[in-house]
Amino acid sequence: MQQLIGWFIFLLSCIGHTELWVMVVNRSHAFSLNATHLRIFRTLHELLIVLFPWLLLWNCGLGRRGLLTGGLLSEQTAFWQTILWITMSATIPWFVGILRWQWKRRFEFSKVATREIFDVALIAQQDATLRNIRGSRWHPLIFWPWNEILTLEVNVKQIQTSNPQASLRRPVRIAHFSDLHFIDCPGVDFYRFMVIKVLEMQADAIVFTGDLIDKPELMATAVEILRPLTKTAPCFFILGNHDWRYDYEHFRTTLAASGWKCVAGTHERIQLADRNVLFAGSELPWIGAAPPSVNHGGVDLQILLSHSPDHFRFAQNNGYDVMLSGHTHGGQVVLPIIGPVYAPSIYGVSFAAGLFRLHKLTLHVSRGIGAKEPLRWNCRPELTCLEIYC
Ligand SMILES: [Fe+2]
Repeated sequence: MQQLIGWFIFLLSCIGHTELWVMVVNRSHAFSLNATHLRIFRTLHELLIVLFPWLLLWNCGLGRRGLLTGGLLSEQTAFWQTILWITMSATIPWFVGILRWQWKRRFEFSKVATREIFDVALIAQQDATLRNIRGSRWHPLIFWPWNEILTLEVNVKQIQTSNPQASLRRPVRIAHFSDLHFIDCPGVDFYRFMVIKVLEMQADAIVFTGDLIDKPELMATAVEILRPLTKTAPCFFILGNHDWRYDYEHFRTTLAASGWKCVAGTHERIQLADRNVLFAGSELPWIGAAPPSVNHGGVDLQILLSHSPDHFRFAQNNGYDVMLSGHTHGGQVVLPIIGPVYAPSIYGVSFAAGLFRLHKLTLHVSRGIGAKEPLRWNCRPELTCLEIYC
């Protein structure tokens, strides 16, 4: 019996230790730390997650009075007793996170009115115009079984604002995509396919919420692919933390010259479907400042584009109806029962993706289109048409 308890303590301690490092990595990526510091955090977390069970085994697992050979927790050294208690305590947030995923977030994550799924690699085999779907960048993750990086989920999601007359009028339709991450994997024709799907939506406006480029040489190609959208509807954008690592002002001016309107740190009023709509943008905590407070009088719908979902309190405090975000990629890997594990947010995986009602504010977090690491598992790239009743 004592041996069984020892195994249980050992297992809890390893899970808790992993959870602690996942929390550190998720939170560190929510701030404007440079790439070197983030890499140090990631490498440390990878090393220690692998090493910790062996250290535990060596110091208080096997041997005389070890946890796995019938020894008691109180018989271990004071140092290892402290480590064991700290790591075991960290299983509490892990367990609460699983309960929240099963109870609430799972439904918010996948809440859609209609869903279409496209296996773009398969479609390209029968369409000669889509030749470069995979791209030329070689990455071992592309061969991961059931990798969904070359699929596209096109969703329609409905949002109801607090206006009691909202359901009587036709909704304002906004096409929202995020995190394109042009890096030559997926290839350029994957993005062309996405643009075709955006055009088919015939939306009133189109918004992109940051992380445009991970390979600056592809900037001209990215603009050439996104330019046709400006001929069909007003297009608004902000940049993200990956753009911030490069010459982001060059990205901004180049995309803006093609007809896309940048709303970072500012706002823009426009008439859409007989409604006065205000678009504002925030690239915090990486670039610039928050948009100035405005008198929202005469505006029917206020939309904030914010790359990170972490700034929903700013949107709430400044009277926005809807906030559109990306950045978290839905966690990229969504495990059965557990849900997503990694999301670069101070709230961990709480806002990894989906539709969230936060008092009067509706937050939509897109799973994004691309990713620097080309792995998506149970978490397809996502293009969304938001039907906003306001
Ligand atoms: Fe991203």
